[in-house]
Amino acid sequence: MTNSATAQRVSVIGLGAMGTALAQALLAGGHQVTVWNRTAARAEALVAEGAVLAATSAEAMAAADLVILCVLDDPAVREHIEPAAAQLRGRTVVNLTTTTPEQARSLGAWALANEVDLIDGGIMAVPSMIGGPAAFVLYSGATAAFDRFRAVLELFGRAEFVGADFGAAAMYDLAILGGMYSMFAGFQQGGKMVRTTGGTAAHLATLMAPFLQAMTTMFAQYAPGIDDPDNYVPEQSAEFTASALGTIDKAAAESGTHTELFGVLLRALPGI
Ligand SMILES: NC(=O)c1ccc[n+]([C@@H]2O[C@H](COP(=O)([O-])OP(=O)(O)OC[C@H]3O[C@@H](n4cnc5c(N)ncnc54)[C@H](OP(=O)(O)O)[C@@H]3O)[C@@H](O)[C@H]2O)c1
Repeated sequence: MTNSATAQRVSVIGLGAMGTALAQALLAGGHQVTVWNRTAARAEALVAEGAVLAATSAEAMAAADLVILCVLDDPAVREHIEPAAAQLRGRTVVNLTTTTPEQARSLGAWALANEVDLIDGGIMAVPSMIGGPAAFVLYSGATAAFDRFRAVLELFGRAEFVGADFGAAAMYDLAILGGMYSMFAGFQQGGKMVRTTGGTAAHLATLMAPFLQAMTTMFAQYAPGIDDPDNYVPEQSAEFTASALGTIDKAAAESGTHTELFGVLLRALPGI
């Protein structure tokens, strides 16, 4: 619980599943929370917990030193933020709406032109994880503003600042999700393959999960090959990787479950 000396005035715009979880974490942290949602009824539970409901998004923005946006997408952000430039001047805005890096940079340029301190964020959690030990949130943009409000932002989960480039948090966020979906694609393909032997995807899941978890320790070894390729000596030769992927691709073909997946990996993974 934050004591009144450190309590901040924070507004949350957007009370979907995620915005509601963020507002609850702020209330639990002892902050003065103003909320606004397009569908006002979604604010009722938060008001019962102590939040103040603003009549308009601009009113909510004017009520706080720290404004948190968590709406559907970039157009929804722009719809509310651009007409409120006067209310936002001199304030800090943290946009936790998922956007592309270029959308974040464009919003960053708008913020600089309007004297708003913008921090863009990417939430690496589902709403039920907010405030818990496994949640973390990526931030980028206005560095001094991030330092100023870091303690508030830590209420959502570990706060990880990834650079002054407004697009950095979105890029890291989407890079991590790209890794996740690549892994899911491998599981989908593998599940189909083992079923042709009488096995099940459920059994494969119990075997693949701990193996992949152990393999994530290899990321740190492969990173120099991306960060400093000129001086990198691959752990595996390109031939070894090509041979392994070729064998896996052949097994997929033999099982009649062939997809393009392993051919794509072969092109994406030279010597690692
Ligand atoms: N849920 C997750 O697990 C998760 C994880 C990471 C990041 N995020 C990101 O967090 C953001 C919100 O996600 P969510 O899960 O809270 O989604 P959600 O439950 O579908 O809520 C969407 C919110 O956006 C509002 N909205 C949509 N269009 C709007 C507009 N034009 N003007 C004003 N408000 C508008 C909705 O208002 P109404 O109530 O009036 O419809 C609602 O408050 C998204 O960008 C999402 O990618 C979510």
